Amino acid sequence: MFNNLNGSYQIDLLKNKLGFDEAFNYKEEPDLKAALKRYFPQGIDIYFDNVGGEMLDAALLNMRIHGRIAVCGAVSQKDVSKPRGLYNWLNLITKRIRIEGFLQNDYLHLYPSFMEHVISNYKEGKIVYVEDMSEGLESAAAALVGIFSGKNVGKQVIRVAHE
Ligand SMILES: NC(=O)c1ccc[n+]([C@@H]2O[C@H](COP(=O)([O-])OP(=O)(O)OC[C@H]3O[C@@H](n4cnc5c(N)ncnc54)[C@H](OP(=O)(O)O)[C@@H]3O)[C@@H](O)[C@H]2O)c1
Repeated sequence: MFNNLNGSYQIDLLKNKLGFDEAFNYKEEPDLKAALKRYFPQGIDIYFDNVGGEMLDAALLNMRIHGRIAVCGAVSQKDVSKPRGLYNWLNLITKRIRIEGFLQNDYLHLYPSFMEHVISNYKEGKIVYVEDMSEGLESAAAALVGIFSGKNVGKQVIRVAHE
């Protein structure tokens, strides 16, 4: 899910640093259904959806029987005045797919044990994350604008001061 400027670098990062088997740039794939078929020829067991719209539709078509979809976000549908419908809904029936949304707020009580788990896994090198650090409050506006054009690599963070 990356822009053309950083595309190949980010694909390399996803595959070689973060351990994904495959990655592609959605902006370079004119046919998302064909792209998913190419990257996942056996089909998809579990799809974590942050995108919605056309990507979710392509995923529905490429799910395996008894596949599961966890719906976290729908970033492609930010403009709520122009919602995009789903055309491959029938796959839920024919493939007996389960789809369910969730909200992090429902699980706030688990935050302390989540932190414990994540910190110990991070220390053991089992969890890797990437931050895009901008220095100084004066860089905040440009960093914020950059998020909307895919300029950041990893979570955009503004360092206001060194402790
Ligand atoms: N369920 C919950 O409790 C929960 C909690 C937090 C967030 N969310 C949701 O989760 C989603 C992701 O949040 P985030 O903080 O990770 O957002 P983020 O940091 O802004 O990242 C959004 C990512 O989506 C990509 N993207 C944008 N449009 C796309 C499209 N049409 N197709 C494919 N990829 C696209 C962007 O890539 P480019 O920049 O290269 O376009 C970027 O990598 C949001 O929809 C947010 O509302 C849900």
